[in-house]
Amino acid sequence: MKNIVVLVSGGGTNLQALIDAEKRGEIKGGKISCVIASKEGVYALERAAQNGIKSCVIPRKEYADIASYTKAVTDKLIEEKADLIVYAGFMTILDEQVVKAFPYKMMNVHPALIPSFCGKGYYGLHVHEEALKKGVKVSGATVHFVTEECDGGPIILQEPVAVENDDTPETLQRRIMENAEWKILPRAVSLFCEDRITIKDGKAYVDLK
Ligand code: GAR
Repeated sequence: MKNIVVLVSGGGTNLQALIDAEKRGEIKGGKISCVIASKEGVYALERAAQNGIKSCVIPRKEYADIASYTKAVTDKLIEEKADLIVYAGFMTILDEQVVKAFPYKMMNVHPALIPSFCGKGYYGLHVHEEALKKGVKVSGATVHFVTEECDGGPIILQEPVAVENDDTPETLQRRIMENAEWKILPRAVSLFCEDRITIKDGKAYVDLK
């Protein structure tokens, strides 16, 4: 069984999707062993507690810079013997120390079809505000490996979602979560735990059988 450590910063609906998928037996070969939050008091911690999952908080604001924060998170991930690390609404960009310690063992869910609306500054509702500003007719979600380039690692799964004329950032966010993120994140996690993802020439290849 692979140890899955989930990093969170907010409400944790993607964490909930992972918990529910694990309960349904849809995460084959892995279990959520720990949740790490970057902030005290976030609802994701409540979800971990309600489901008997160990959690801890490593508060971003207590560290002077990103290097010392990344070191603290990396040490904790090593201590937890993480086999897979999932960024599930984790809003801090860690530096290369963690990428070197866990190469192609970290994945992130992003609420757009990468390479659109991604990179530094594109997180949470801002992503959907920009998509609506541009007038795109299709958006969606992407699960990708975390590398040193923000939102630039190999793409594992993507799911498109139609944009409606009367969408607000909030309605678009909700539709993308329900119809894309909550489906492809657990699927990608299971594929990883079943050793069905390979990296070749900087791209991820998924064995869909
Ligand atoms: C999700 O939409 C996730 O894709 C996004 O933040 C939300 C977190 O919701 N992540 C990013 O924008 C990362 N760049 P959640 O806490 O309810 O899972």
